[in-house]
Parts: sequence; C-alpha cells; structure tokens
Amino acid sequence: MTATASLEQIDFVVGIKDLLIKKKAVLLAHYYQEKAIQDLADFVGDSLELSRKAATTNADIIVFAGVHFMAETAKILNPTKKVILPDLNAGCSLADACPPDAFAKFIAQHPGHVVVTYINCSAHIKAMSDYVCTSSNAVSVINAIPPEQPIIFAPDKNLGKYIMKITGRDLVLWEGSCVVHEAFSIDKLIHLAKKYPSAKVIAHPESEPHLLRMASFIGSTAKMIKYVEDSSAGEFIVATEAGILHEMRKRVPQKLLIPAPANEDNTCACSECAFMKMNTLEKLYRCLKDEQPEIQVEESLRLRALRPIERMLQHV
Ligand code: 13P
Ligand code: SF4
Repeated sequence: MTATASLEQIDFVVGIKDLLIKKKAVLLAHYYQEKAIQDLADFVGDSLELSRKAATTNADIIVFAGVHFMAETAKILNPTKKVILPDLNAGCSLADACPPDAFAKFIAQHPGHVVVTYINCSAHIKAMSDYVCTSSNAVSVINAIPPEQPIIFAPDKNLGKYIMKITGRDLVLWEGSCVVHEAFSIDKLIHLAKKYPSAKVIAHPESEPHLLRMASFIGSTAKMIKYVEDSSAGEFIVATEAGILHEMRKRVPQKLLIPAPANEDNTCACSECAFMKMNTLEKLYRCLKDEQPEIQVEESLRLRALRPIERMLQHV
C-alpha cells in the first residue's frame, strides 16, 4: 500500500489477506484492476492467462477481480470451485453488444460459417460458438481454420478488422466494440506523438483501425507488457486501459510510460474501464467474507460453452 492509503483501506487489505488464507481462496486479477487489488492478487494476467489459472487452480474458492464474463469463464472451466465476483454489475460493453437472440438470427443468416467469438461475451454466446479466442491468440485460432472455411467473428469489430488485416482472411463481423478502446482521441494522440518523437505507440487490438495504424506494436495486455520489457526503446505511449501502467511501471521503472489520451477529459486524462473499476477493496473484502455474489452457470449451458473454450486453451 502507498503512504496515502487510508486506515480503512489498510484494514481491508489485512482482512482480505486473512480471508484468502482462511478460506483457501485464490485471488485472480486482470491488469485493468485498481493498483491495490493487483498488489493483493495471487496472480495478475490477461484474459487467456487468467482462464488458464482458473482452469488449473486447486483453491476452494476463486475470487475474480475482473468482469463478469471472466468469472463466468472460470466457472465453466472449473465448475466444482465456488467462483465469486466482487460486483455482479461489472459487465463489458462487448458482451452487452451481443444479445443471444440477435446473435442466433445472425448465425442463421450465414449458413455454413464457423463461429469464432472473442472471450468478451456471455456463456450463451460461447455456447453458440465453435471456437472462443482472446486478444492474445485470436490470430492463431483463425489461422488454424482451413482457408476456404467462411467464418463469423463476434463481438468485437475492431479486433475482427485487425485479424482480417493480419491473416488476409475475410471474416463476417458482428458490430460490437469496447467503449474504453474507442475513447482514445486520435488528434490528441498525434499531438502527443509529436511531443515525444522517440516514444513508440503500443496498442491493444480492441482499438480502432486508425489508431492501430500509428502503433509500432499491437497485442494483448500481457503481450504489451512483455514488449515494453523486451524493447530497447525507453519511451512508450500506451493505448489501452490505464490500469496496465501499474504492472508496466513495476517491471520497467526506468522507462517513460505515457497513457494514450482519451476524448473526454477524465480525471486521469486516459481511458479507464468503468466496469473493471467497479471492483473495490471494500467489495472484495465483503465478497470474500460472505462468499457472494457467486457465479452460477446451468450445467447444459456450461457444457455447450466449455467445448469452444477448451479449443481456445489449445492455442497460445
Ligand atoms: P486481454 O486481457 O486479452 O488483453 O483483453 C483486454 C480486455 O479488454 C479485457 O476485457
Ligand atoms: Fe469490456 Fe472494454 Fe472494459 Fe475490457 S476494457 S471489460 S473489453 S469494456
């Protein structure tokens, strides 16, 4: 904890550590969580790494400091564990953009297509899919499908366009997007890039094509962190949710990391995911203490969603 942490926050930290041990619970956190939660976590990772951890943990309880689809995926992969999420309302604009009824009609309109979905969707959408992927392995999943096979890709049109560019495949795209990655201001980014001419722009593939065109590197959160670590460059403009800067600053304290600017004048002048930030230390403490809200997935739905998720885990 920092010197400015309140006594109440410190009490929650002590309480959370204590409950994690007493209840044989594991705390999994995404890089977009607030700093104090990342610091408490047993494991911090991107969506693919967190799924792998959730599938293999032998803890009794999985506390997911992330958003709903991540905790739901953990439950699908490891159904005998109790999976809890500090705030059930921690959703995702991509998952919200793809309602099951409309998606079922969309699939029916495209007979003969294989359905590949980004992990940022509900269990119902996963259950309609042939493959699930994350931003980390989307290209590998698409490349493993025979070239003549037509493919629907949902729900992120920006990730879909990026995959089309990299693989040369023609995907039928669902029109969803991430509000956080669409909030970057290209004008402000150009201005910032001029101010820091040595800085490399690095971006998450949920960003819009015009922003990705400015990027020297495009990858999942884990891959962006690795790039910053391995690169010989000393300055980076980071176009993804600002929570990632915490782990980056720990790994490369000597490098200059500048958050890409958002359109709106947010308090951080960057882009933050309001869903991810719904999880707080207090909610985390209460959720561990009460062992709820708990994620439940009906068994026949779980089994249908599991098959494409298992295929996702076969790809790095
Ligand atoms: P990754 O964890 O795959 O980088 O995805 C980022 C994201 O937006 C999670 O919601
Ligand atoms: Fe969803 Fe975007 Fe938030 Fe990730 S950052 S959880 S994709 S809204």
